[in-house]
Amino acid sequence: RTRELSSEKEKLDAIVSSIEAGIAIFNRDGRMVWSNRVMREWLQNGRQYGMEDFIHNGTEDAIQDIFVDNRFVREVSYLDFGRKRGFFQMVATPIHPPEGDPHVMMLFQDVTEVKKAEEQLMQSEKLTALTRLSAGVAHEIGNPLTSISSYVQILREMEHDEFTREALGTISRHLGRIGDIVRQMSNFAKIEAENLGDHKIYDLVKTTVDLVRYDKRTARIDIKADIPEDLPVISVDGNQMVQVFMNLILNAADAMPGGGELSITARRAGRMVEIVFTDTGEGIPGENLERIFDPFFTTKEKGTGLGLAVSYTIVKSFGGEITVESTPGRGTTFRVRIPSKE
Ligand SMILES: Nc1ncnc2c1ncn2[C@@H]1O[C@H](COP(=O)(O)OP(=O)(O)OP(=O)(O)O)[C@@H](O)[C@H]1O
Ligand SMILES: [Mg+2]
Repeated sequence: RTRELSSEKEKLDAIVSSIEAGIAIFNRDGRMVWSNRVMREWLQNGRQYGMEDFIHNGTEDAIQDIFVDNRFVREVSYLDFGRKRGFFQMVATPIHPPEGDPHVMMLFQDVTEVKKAEEQLMQSEKLTALTRLSAGVAHEIGNPLTSISSYVQILREMEHDEFTREALGTISRHLGRIGDIVRQMSNFAKIEAENLGDHKIYDLVKTTVDLVRYDKRTARIDIKADIPEDLPVISVDGNQMVQVFMNLILNAADAMPGGGELSITARRAGRMVEIVFTDTGEGIPGENLERIFDPFFTTKEKGTGLGLAVSYTIVKSFGGEITVESTPGRGTTFRVRIPSKE
């Protein structure tokens, strides 16, 4: 009987230690009393953990509910284990041993990658809808706008009292802004990888950096581009790729109003080439991170919020991807990955 038991225990141990999920057991007071290998790798050494560290909604009640109602809690939430963070699916199960106090077992499965994939999918659906809408709107607004703008232009060239002159000035400035947005939207509708050709990252980055030097926003920042010349070429529309790089550089410049450094590097990453833009700017607060690629999301008074949405669509059309990491107060890193031709 003892032999049987110990072989059962060995089986159990083998299962528990081979599972790629975090498992922990908590006592009646909610203190963690046991954890498996994976869980220990995630947690900070030497810290006491309790159930409240992992259940965020209605802590006290939620914990008691599990004991009292025998309830399973299944939820996906963002958790920070100390040495590991991301989205986890959590299942809690009460354990009622024949003798002694009841305990709770919690199992955490990392679903961060799944969640990311879902979000990417939603993002591309959002963008397809927008692309269709943009074409319509740009056309419907663009034509009357051109007509209004030319009348305003004619009126401004005539003699007027001071009020009318100023009013016309304001009208024309606002028209300019509407015009910018409409132009961006019609660019947006047109995005489709068209003039594909083989390009060297080195050349594309150099062209972009030379171009943005004319923008006064880049005057106060230090752009350090260090691109190896022998990277594999990428098959892209050169103008569109330059547009993406330009958006990223100007965003970095906007994030460093008091000056700072933007480093641009590139390297092979498997079958892709990765171009990395790292700035020392204000960073992006966590709650904005998943919205910055949304069309019209902007935190700038004069921004259209289309820069990153357009960049995202362009990069996607080349079979690539674009990701972001940021630490508020420290800076932001954008990674553009494009399939390489080798
Ligand atoms: N490098 C960066 N550092 C900090 N915040 C950034 C950075 N890049 C983008 N952002 C944030 O993402 C938002 C969206 O960027 P996006 O380029 O799409 O639009 P925008 O820059 O606001 O407007 P536009 O591109 O028309 O000037 C910005 O308003 C800003 O809040
Ligand atoms: Mg921008």
